[in-house]
Amino acid sequence: MFRAILTVVGIVMSQVELAQAIPNVTVTPLPPTCASYPAYDNSTGQAGPWYLVADATGSSIDGFAATATYYTNPDFHRWGFITIPSVKATKNPAMRCANGTLQVQLSTGNNNTAWQDIVVAGDNNWQAGIGFAFPGDQSKDIPVQPYAHFINGTRQPGVFLGAKNVTTWYFKDNWAGNAGEYYLLRLWASGTELEEKDHAGFLKLVV
Ligand SMILES: *[C@@H]1O[C@H](CO)[C@@H](O)[C@H](O)[C@H]1NC(C)=O
Ligand SMILES: *[C@@H]1O[C@H](CO)[C@@H](O)[C@H](O)[C@H]1NC(C)=O
Ligand SMILES: *[C@@H]1O[C@H](CO)[C@@H](O)[C@H](O)[C@H]1NC(C)=O
Ligand SMILES: *[C@@H]1O[C@H](CO)[C@@H](O)[C@H](O)[C@H]1NC(C)=O
Ligand SMILES: *[C@@H]1O[C@H](CO)[C@@H](O)[C@H](O)[C@H]1NC(C)=O
Ligand SMILES: *[C@@H]1O[C@H](CO)[C@@H](O)[C@H](O)[C@H]1NC(C)=O
Repeated sequence: MFRAILTVVGIVMSQVELAQAIPNVTVTPLPPTCASYPAYDNSTGQAGPWYLVADATGSSIDGFAATATYYTNPDFHRWGFITIPSVKATKNPAMRCANGTLQVQLSTGNNNTAWQDIVVAGDNNWQAGIGFAFPGDQSKDIPVQPYAHFINGTRQPGVFLGAKNVTTWYFKDNWAGNAGEYYLLRLWASGTELEEKDHAGFLKLVV
């Protein structure tokens, strides 16, 4: 498989405009199947469980695993964002790949959990945020996919999450009262400028 990856023409992203902490990597898509993710089980066709971890932000949140921040609409439609907490969380929702799709395990109350598909929002309202079940957004959702990073032709350890051949994320600082402070994660758009307290970085899958 490694050989197959190398034959794919890599995408060279100009990241000159990014914070210096971000390594200048060549982003190469991995086949969009569960076999591309860590801890793949050939007998089930699924990969995981693992955690999504902040990487290369050059700040204290590097290594922090993602949590889910979610809401329930009056019609019981549950939706939300995958976020990185500003203080290391003690309990993080597990993630997996099933049916070729990244999923997060959420509590549904009464000791039950459900696996929910993770996407990048395609509707402008959500500013390319990563999350799940965005209200009214289903037809426009952008699939998240696994990528490899190369520097000078050398594959960097790990599998990185991205979409549309972009693996850089905008970590948007958000203060949510009782829910605390966390970073919303938005797919990086070229030309974006970082605001104070925000970061740019990668999201890496860690077993
Ligand atoms: C990033 O790497 C690419 C190719 O490896 C190179 O062309 C480019 O100049 C590099 N950019 C920076 C800012 O180092
Ligand atoms: C994985 O599964 C495929 C199809 O089920 C099978 O052909 C292959 O031999 C399996 N590989 C291993 C390493 O078990
Ligand atoms: C896999 O995904 C397809 C397409 O979204 C869906 O129709 C199918 O029900 C899913 N299968 C399982 C086992 O989740
Ligand atoms: C959840 O599970 C715990 C331990 O098994 C049990 O004590 C508790 O009653 C359960 N709660 C509900 C709401 O079912
Ligand atoms: C990439 O290779 C060039 C030439 O061998 C070297 O000068 C440069 O330091 C390398 N960059 C990195 C990030 O390893
Ligand atoms: C991503 O890169 C692959 C190969 O490097 C290319 O075939 C594909 O068209 C690119 N996709 C997008 C959305 O740019």
